[in-house]
Amino acid sequence: MSDRVQLVEVCPRDGLQNEAATLPTETKVALIERLIAAGCTRIEATSFVSARAIPQLADADDLFSRVSALAGAELIALVPNERGYDRAVAAGCRSVEVFTAATDAFCQANIRCTIAESFQRFVPIMAKADADRIPVRGAVSVAFNCPYSGAVHPGAAIAVARRLLEIGCSEVSIADTTGTATADQVAALLAMVVKILPTDLVAMHFHDTTGLAVEHVVTSFDAGIRTFDGSAGGLGGCPFSPGAPGNVASESVLAAMDARGIATGVNTEAIRETGAWIRAQLASAAHAPV
Ligand code: COA
Ligand code: ZN
Repeated sequence: MSDRVQLVEVCPRDGLQNEAATLPTETKVALIERLIAAGCTRIEATSFVSARAIPQLADADDLFSRVSALAGAELIALVPNERGYDRAVAAGCRSVEVFTAATDAFCQANIRCTIAESFQRFVPIMAKADADRIPVRGAVSVAFNCPYSGAVHPGAAIAVARRLLEIGCSEVSIADTTGTATADQVAALLAMVVKILPTDLVAMHFHDTTGLAVEHVVTSFDAGIRTFDGSAGGLGGCPFSPGAPGNVASESVLAAMDARGIATGVNTEAIRETGAWIRAQLASAAHAPV
């Protein structure tokens, strides 16, 4: 098993989608450039969703056409349906992510369909991506607790993750969207993950509501997980998950790995600076005259 950890930097997508202020596209381009310069090789750049659902990312087409030629990183775009996939590819995207949930209630709130219906939406996406040789990442929201239906059985989350791999996803990201997972819940899920899923195809995605996210990352690492989603500056949250604050800060994940001597290929200080920089951009955007 490799000891190297891979960071999937989600600040430009998960980070920015929950901010009240919408940043200019050029600032988002600069953010992605900074992340690549810091050594990030995988970045969730934006999502091709309804602008009504996520107005902060309404510039996805323009953004992607400006960043798609940047070398050095896989730039991943979230696509909720075939239309999102077509938009992404037209803008030059070569890596997409589909997303569903561990509960029907959250799935309905987030993408306005049941889990089963979400898999129907993925059918044409998977077919086109296969023909286009574009990798598809899959994400499972609310894998531990759902703001609408409460605690989630780990088996329910893992069944969705397994199905994503079965339909052809190259990797699955298992998310604590509410950031409320306890140490016991994380341990219980991981115990099932290592039995049922190929751990090299699993990423863990933690939010930091209760301050335990870095501990959960370390627990996941010890269980054999080597890919983690993180957001520079700890930005983020899901607008359909009330009260969920930021993602685990990438710099905290990297620092935890640095302390253990685990290689990540990413410069922790550069990510810390980028996190501070993007927070300053958001603060000035919030105060800009409309
Ligand atoms: N890109 C842009 N707009 C899209 C779209 C896409 N991929 N898919 C649908 N739309 C638009 C439709 O044109 C329609 O617009 P209108 O209201 O101006 O007429 C609206 O979205 C609803 O379309 P519909 O096909 O009826 O879809 P829906 O109501 O079932 O909504 C989603 C489904 C997935 C499009 C919407 O819920 C969504 O974008 N969710 C994203 C949520 C998200 O990103 N959450 C954070 C990630 S965890
Ligand atoms: Zn998230």
